[in-house]
Amino acid sequence: MSAGGTDRRARGKTGEVSVRKARRTDLERVIGIDATVTGIEKDDYWHSVFHRYGAGSRPERQFLVAECDGQVVGFVIGEVRDWEFGAPPCGWVFAIDVQPEYRQRGVASRMLDVLCEGLRASGVRKLRTMLSRDNVLILSFFRSQGMRTGPFIPLEMDLDD
Ligand SMILES: CC(C)(COP(=O)(O)OP(=O)(O)OC[C@H]1O[C@@H](n2cnc3c(N)ncnc32)[C@H](O)[C@@H]1OP(=O)(O)O)[C@@H](O)C(=O)NCCC(=O)NCCS
Repeated sequence: MSAGGTDRRARGKTGEVSVRKARRTDLERVIGIDATVTGIEKDDYWHSVFHRYGAGSRPERQFLVAECDGQVVGFVIGEVRDWEFGAPPCGWVFAIDVQPEYRQRGVASRMLDVLCEGLRASGVRKLRTMLSRDNVLILSFFRSQGMRTGPFIPLEMDLDD
């Protein structure tokens, strides 16, 4: 499937869902959808994300949105990262959100399909992500897409003065 196509599974009470590259004019909707999850409107952050992932046409950096009923209802961001953590180039998905009223209709699955298609076109054969241990919803979603525990472990420490 290519960006801009539609998916039968994503039809419900709502219209058809299509997935395409994000445009600068989508940012207001993206910021709003993100704010429904995080409670914070991060305007500067999203403009810098768009500059990095949405502005160019390189398939190794992707910022996609799902459109339905004439509005943006979800977004996904991913990229190819080379040799991070010593691993050969692979795809990373690091943000995916769907507006609450449009969830459980296949919108996120459709966006991930299109993202994966672009990443495959960049030559990578593996997709990774990182998520909060407490976020059961996003864990259920990624597991439903076939993602399983990978070979890395996260570590962290406090940077006290
Ligand atoms: C996770 C999220 C992206 C899923 O979007 P969605 O469009 O509803 O997902 P889909 O309809 O494609 O669902 C695919 C599968 O995910 C799983 N899933 C989705 N929502 C679920 C839920 N509420 N409970 C359990 N499993 C769920 C199911 O296995 C589902 O397959 P099924 O429809 O055959 O049962 C969406 O719920 C969301 O935006 N959540 C908040 C975002 C978030 O916390 N992001 C973290 C920062 S990256």
